[in-house]
Amino acid sequence: MNERIGILTGGGDCPGLNAVIRAVVKSATKRGFETIGFINGFEGLLDPITYKVLDYKELDGLLFRGGTILGTTNKGRFVAKAGLGESKRIPKQVLDAAKRTCDQLSLQALICVGGDGSLSIAQQLYENGVPVIGVPKTIDNDLEATVMTFGFDSAVATASNALDRLHTTAESHNRVMVLEVMGRYAGWIAAYAGIAGGADVILIPEVPFHYESICRKIAERESQNKHFTLVVVAEGAMEAGGQYVTTGNTSDKHETRLGGVGEIVAEEIQKRAHKETRVVVLGHLQRGGGPTDFDRVLCTRFGVRAVQFIDEGRFGHMVSFQPPDMVPVKITEAIGKMREVPVDGGIVQTAGALGISLGD
Ligand code: F6P
Repeated sequence: MNERIGILTGGGDCPGLNAVIRAVVKSATKRGFETIGFINGFEGLLDPITYKVLDYKELDGLLFRGGTILGTTNKGRFVAKAGLGESKRIPKQVLDAAKRTCDQLSLQALICVGGDGSLSIAQQLYENGVPVIGVPKTIDNDLEATVMTFGFDSAVATASNALDRLHTTAESHNRVMVLEVMGRYAGWIAAYAGIAGGADVILIPEVPFHYESICRKIAERESQNKHFTLVVVAEGAMEAGGQYVTTGNTSDKHETRLGGVGEIVAEEIQKRAHKETRVVVLGHLQRGGGPTDFDRVLCTRFGVRAVQFIDEGRFGHMVSFQPPDMVPVKITEAIGKMREVPVDGGIVQTAGALGISLGD
């Protein structure tokens, strides 16, 4: 029998998951491993155990296909995250059952592709004896211990493309356009897309905003004969002294669903600045679809390196992008805290130098 490894994708989906799967299967096959893919994330490890053998010859077109052919979930018996930095212990019997599956299938390694929540689960599996290797995924780019996660560049491309389109209609109608993008605890997508798409105001969770400041920017533009304004707001941004805007769909088991801040910001601007205002919520368009060229290369490098980690015995490690290299870091270095946009860092300074308002 061939030596065998497993792979699964956990948490919210993201452009590039299939490109990672393809890279893992291709390089593993070349190395002599058979690869099996567990279905619906960690759930596939539990009764009824569900997986499929991944033959790379059958995986044509995966490099650019969105979503994940393995399915994923952020619900089920493995939920490890309740909110910001809050990690939950998974019941021992669940961890034991997953370990039994890996033993029965004689897995030499289990490659877990996911963000903070999924990698917290992966770490607990590792502590329970499963030879785990992590690959960092999230469009939010808020994972510690890697310079970038895959999916982020693709989400930024979608958001900046939306801004390009909003620009022309805003200009034609002399309107304020508010674009709400994803980003729960970190404003990376808003900041990068805002700069790439020529936004005038960027609101991120790291910098609580004031409406007076936003309206000042709009007034400044009016005085410069620019009668339209583009505002990008991260879903996790909040007014100074305020709190997260949620959809009201809360549960103690899962993370609260954010959403709605764009609508509130737009209404308030219309009231205070007396400008006609429209809002667009980009939502899951940022998560769907295929990866950018940059993400295709990043995903491919993550997948190839993850397979190399097996022979190097780097279990309990995650592949980290430290340009120009892909290096091992302990999974524990990546989880339990969020990598925020540094308020005194280069991105914020660049925005400031361009006259972009952060609403502070
Ligand atoms: O963490 C990634 C993310 O896209 C967040 O920005 C967003 O709040 C969340 O996932 C939404 O997840 P879902 O709609 O799948 O519950």
